[in-house]
Amino acid sequence: MAWSAKSPPKWFIVDNFFRDKEAYDEAWSQSRGGDTLWVDAGEQLKSLGAVEQALSWLSERGATRSDSIAIIGGGTVLDYGLFVAAIFQRGMKAWSIPTTLLAAVDAGIGGKNGVNFQGLKNYIGTITQPAAILTDLQTLNTLPPLEVMNGWMEMAKHGLIADSDLWLDMSKFASTPAPSAMHNLIDKAAQVKNQIVSRDGNEMGERKSLNFGHTLAHALESRAAALKRELPHGIAVGMGLVFSLHWSASRMATDGQIMLRAASIIRQWLNNGAESFVAQTLMDFDADATWSYMQKDKKNAQNAVLEVGLKAIGEAHWNIPMTREEFETAWSSAFDRDSAR
Ligand SMILES: NC(=O)c1ccc[n+]([C@@H]2O[C@H](COP(=O)([O-])OP(=O)(O)OC[C@H]3O[C@@H](n4cnc5c(N)ncnc54)[C@H](O)[C@@H]3O)[C@@H](O)[C@H]2O)c1
Repeated sequence: MAWSAKSPPKWFIVDNFFRDKEAYDEAWSQSRGGDTLWVDAGEQLKSLGAVEQALSWLSERGATRSDSIAIIGGGTVLDYGLFVAAIFQRGMKAWSIPTTLLAAVDAGIGGKNGVNFQGLKNYIGTITQPAAILTDLQTLNTLPPLEVMNGWMEMAKHGLIADSDLWLDMSKFASTPAPSAMHNLIDKAAQVKNQIVSRDGNEMGERKSLNFGHTLAHALESRAAALKRELPHGIAVGMGLVFSLHWSASRMATDGQIMLRAASIIRQWLNNGAESFVAQTLMDFDADATWSYMQKDKKNAQNAVLEVGLKAIGEAHWNIPMTREEFETAWSSAFDRDSAR
């Protein structure tokens, strides 16, 4: 990898996936007097204990706040590494180098970083913009299909909330395409996130629209975790999008049919690649448990479930209260036909 900026990184935190891969040249950091910390990706990395290890690693090697550090990996490595960078000696310059599709269009952009705490996801962290974001699209070619779907669903969300052209282009695919077939769509989706974050870095308003479909997705993930079932994030997000489109159709959309058509496209993507996960999630569904997780979502205020809805494709509204009755109606409209199969 070539570093053209004025202060190229000296320190590296890199996903172990790239160890011994030709694409990563460890000698480069060593020739600059720096070093590489190899880490295993995954939620277990997002802990204060692991953060302390990285801080010690930097301090033992004499790193200083005027050095730059590059973080290379998917969302978990970036969340963790960019947090380390943000707090080491009150902050060193960090390069965000996403290597998963989800990170390329979402987690690697926007400056939110941090770790989980006492079972609560992303509970400790900062919002600190990286000095640079670099994505090498070729890196995405080795992603397994479920990881591709994780990113694809976030891209769909970006189209639905803010870029109707992106959505239109994506909606032409019958199933999640390979990363090599979607380079221009990845650029567009990353731009949506960039633009929203540049207008509302601290999530005072518009940035909340990025939570479209996510209140239900997180509730389904919590429920699956409680039942010790595996539910990939992208599938939970896909189901969240289907649900939120049905809710938008009845609650606020100018043309409900357009919302329902969008929902059925996402439903088809889920069927072509993840049907068994969806079927299991529908079988496990419990309205009381799911609603109670939704009420605990950290984006809420004053005991109301505050949701993001669409008035039209590309036009999101946020802080819209959702009632329990609306939740049940939207769920039935989105999924009852499937669970009856
Ligand atoms: N900070 C934010 O704004 C933000 C936004 C969305 C999600 N997130 C966070 O992102 C995390 C999920 O990110 P993720 O899905 O990238 O997870 P991840 O970092 O666990 O990566 C998923 C898997 O892909 C592997 N991998 C990485 N690059 C690869 C490549 N090029 N080829 C093959 N395999 C590769 C990893 O080793 C890992 O096994 C969650 O913790 C979530 O909270 C953060």
